[in-house]
Amino acid sequence: MVRTYRSETWSSYRMDYGDPHRLLEPLEEEAAVVDEALGVLHEAGVVPHTSYDHEKMLAHREAVKELFEIPWTAISPRMQRLLYAINAVVRPQNMIAAGVFCGNTFISNAGAAVGPGACYRASNLIGVEISTEEAERAERNVRRIDPSGVARVVAADAVEVVGKFPESINLLYLDPDGYSRSGKGVYLDVLEAAYPRMPAGSVALAHNSVNGGTPVEACLEFVRDEAHFRASVNVILDIEGLEVSLK
Ligand SMILES: C[S@@+](CC[C@H](N)C(=O)[O-])C[C@H]1O[C@@H](n2cnc3c(N)ncnc32)[C@H](O)[C@@H]1O
Repeated sequence: MVRTYRSETWSSYRMDYGDPHRLLEPLEEEAAVVDEALGVLHEAGVVPHTSYDHEKMLAHREAVKELFEIPWTAISPRMQRLLYAINAVVRPQNMIAAGVFCGNTFISNAGAAVGPGACYRASNLIGVEISTEEAERAERNVRRIDPSGVARVVAADAVEVVGKFPESINLLYLDPDGYSRSGKGVYLDVLEAAYPRMPAGSVALAHNSVNGGTPVEACLEFVRDEAHFRASVNVILDIEGLEVSLK
């Protein structure tokens, strides 16, 4: 099943990449858009329910605002809430995020299991960043929220990390870009390397499903093919978009 959720305000909802903490709409409106998106994900069978703790999400948001050094990010408040909510609902034991830059995308996923937004216990939450400098900053950021080390960032090529991961990958977040190979074309390389380790019921998230252009297309074709994933929903709540797929 392939579906699209499109918020009425997706194209007028614009963030400042250098000022990611500025709220762009009342919290109730932000939560309502994410609830609509979760409703479509639920109808498509991608998530088992749509409930998450709104107060914990806000506690997570405050901790990131206070503790993270973020030079820029394209993760809007709507997208931050959606990523947190999907992880809070799916509760992946092992989550790998590819191409995490300063760690904001990673903690938007991992924050459902570590720090003040934690609502379950995970085994491994791994952010992978190919730039050593950025990986070090992301790791510094993540340590401030999660002293336990369950969430951690490694400096490596995500294709190699997922290909060698010894356990199941229950949630894979894709966001690598602009370092080697073909820019965002590396999405499919990471997904194909991870695919054999993703059991039935695992979830793939691909950021930039709206504005990723041709390099992301091959990955979107792969997840929208029912031979690979049972259901896939393009969630369009901002100009970046997130493809959410259930294996
Ligand atoms: C543009 S950033 C993602 C930023 C994110 N969307 C945000 O808004 O915060 C993409 C990151 O992917 C990293 N990257 C590119 N290829 C990679 C690979 N093969 N493995 C891991 N990271 C990779 C880049 O170094 C870069 O930091």
